[in-house]
Order: sequence, then structure tokens, then C-alpha cells
Amino acid sequence: MSQGRKADHLRICAEMDVEFRRQSTWLEHVRLVHAALAEVSRDEISTETRFLGRRLRAPLMITAISGGLREAQALNRDLARAAQELGLAFGLGSQRPMLEDPGLIGSYAVRRYAPDIPILGNIGLQQAAHSDLLDIVKLVQSVAADGLAVHLNPAQELTQREGDTDFSAGIKTLRGLTKRLPHRILVKETGCGISRDTARILRSAGVDYLDVAGAGGTSWPRVENLRKGADPAGRTWIDEWGIPTAASLWEVAPLGLQIVGSGGIRSGLDVAKCLVLGADAAGMALPVLRAWRRGGYGAVLSCLQDVIAELKTVMLLVGARDIPALKKHRPVITGQLREWIDNRSRK
Ligand SMILES: Cc1cc2nc3c(=O)[nH]c(=O)nc-3n(C[C@H](O)[C@H](O)[C@H](O)COP(=O)(O)O)c2cc1C
Repeated sequence: MSQGRKADHLRICAEMDVEFRRQSTWLEHVRLVHAALAEVSRDEISTETRFLGRRLRAPLMITAISGGLREAQALNRDLARAAQELGLAFGLGSQRPMLEDPGLIGSYAVRRYAPDIPILGNIGLQQAAHSDLLDIVKLVQSVAADGLAVHLNPAQELTQREGDTDFSAGIKTLRGLTKRLPHRILVKETGCGISRDTARILRSAGVDYLDVAGAGGTSWPRVENLRKGADPAGRTWIDEWGIPTAASLWEVAPLGLQIVGSGGIRSGLDVAKCLVLGADAAGMALPVLRAWRRGGYGAVLSCLQDVIAELKTVMLLVGARDIPALKKHRPVITGQLREWIDNRSRK
């Protein structure tokens, strides 16, 4: 990807209204049930869990944002330091620039700031399909990552003027990657969600980890339309396209994969709802980028601390003293999410 396009993405996401406008995550249709007699002290609540073979102090991940640019060096350093400080997982932005120029490793080489946390490399399935897979494996090794996030973004590609239109080599490429990096591949969307059928195909290709990145948060077709100069007040159907995050989690939860719930996660309450729907961790991108633009490392740290504190409050209010107990909570599902589940269960 051109450096200019990456820089445009950072600027547009930091400064413009890039989120879905009508479509929400549908997490508002997931109602947690208040426990007035919680029988837990807030200090006893443990948010610890495990992810990618490492311990997390809270079930939270900063998902892929950037790399390759000069600005991304400070950004990734600060995000990695904050993730290390709080014991969270960290996803690097697309390493495509490194495929074109391995000298650009500087902005991705953050392991020294974050020795203990899970770090994921990142590449688009489309770029992997056009590359020698040994070069993709080297991307992961060169940054000492624990695994590789492979992103799917057909709606974004189809909105870009210069985007890909041929998506025919995906499954074969994924099989090649899971063979070379067994138990280390996470497949993620970028804001349109993943259905049960797609998740089944991914599982049979050997993928162990999924990040649903559903609709309701950052809309990549909208980012691309804004980049083309579209009226920010206007909207196109493709800006609102995708499976809402809550519905996507419901779709993929029964398949026995390790799941990240993301796409529009903006609070500790959202994180708790993702876990109740079957996620093992939740992920955020846009709020973290915006916090960094506002106030660097300190603002990122306090944004994430607020989310974790709110998660603990929610856990107390539903009477869950640890993550396994939270995951057992039975929510009430209402509204459009209920209709989605009824419809999809009749298939
Ligand atoms: C500025 C920016 C750059 C992104 N770059 C990447 C990327 O390189 N690779 C990727 O897999 N996802 C990328 N994403 C997508 C996010 O990881 C995430 O899936 C998506 O934005 C939805 O989460 P959100 O609503 O919390 O932003 C990017 C997101 C933002 C905001």
C-alpha cells in the first residue's frame, strides 16, 4: 500500500466521522442481568485470562492500526508500552510496506517495549495470496510476534478506486499459512463481521483464532469514500454494510475457536457483552488511535484503564468474580439481534 494512502487513513480516521452512522453493533440488544446481591468485593475481581499462549491481565486487545510510516513508529511504540503496562494483547498494523521494503521494520519492531504480551503481525489475505508465503513467515519472525493476523477486507477493496477485485485464492493461501504457522494464525475482518459459514471454512483451513471485527464501529468503505472526497453528510449503502458485531459473535461462538470480539467496542460494558456472547477477548482500534492523537502514551493508558475499570464494575454488577464466571452469564437478547438469531436458527 502506498505511504500516501496509509497516511490518509490515519488522518481521516483521527479527524473525521468514520463510524457507521445508522448501523450499530447491536450490543444494545444484549442485556446483562443485574445481581443486587453480588457477594463479591471489587478488589477480588480478576480480569485475568490467557490468549495466544500468554497471560493477559484483562481480556483486551489493541487491534491493528498502523505501520510503515514515520508517525507509526511513535504510535506503535506507545501502544506497545501501554499494552505491556496493562497486560493486554497488541496487534501491529499491516506489514505490507515491509514486504515492499524490509528496511521499514523500525515502526513494527516493538517487542523490546513489550516483552511479555501477545503481539500479532498483520497482513491482508490479498497481499499474502500474491506473495511467497516464506516471506510472510519472515514478517512474523522479524518482529518476534506470537502470531499473524490475516485481514479480510473485500468491502474496503471494492470501494477503493485502486482496490483488488479478485478474491479467488483466499482459502488456498490460508491453508498454506496455517501449515507454515500452525496454531498462530488469527483471521480478522476489518468492520464487516464474519458469518458462521465463513468461520467454518476458516476452521477447516486450520485457523484457530478469529477476530470478528463486526459492523457498528469504524466503517472502512466510509473511510475510502471520504478519501475519494465524498460529502461527509452523505451516505452510501456500502458504508453501512456488514454483520453487526453482536450478531457476528453469536454466529461464530459455537465453533470452538478462540474469539476476539471487536468492531465498535467503546466501553467496558461492551467488552463484558462480547465475552458473554462467547468472545475470549475484545478488541479496539479507533478509540485508541484517537486517544494517542489527543495525548500520546498517557492518554492511551488512561483510555484503556477506564475500559478495564468499567469492565470490573460490570462484573461486580452481574456477580462475576472472574472471566470464566462472566462468560457463563446468561444475557437477555432483544430486538433486531433476537430476530437475527430466530431467522438464522431456522436455516
Ligand atoms: C487507522 C486505522 C488503521 C487500520 N489498519 C489496519 C490494518 O493495517 N490491518 C488490519 O487488519 N486492520 C486495520 N484496521 C482495522 C481495525 O483493526 C479494526 O478491525 C476496525 O477498525 C474495527 O474496530 P474499531 O471499530 O474499534 O475501529 C485499522 C483501523 C484503523 C482505525
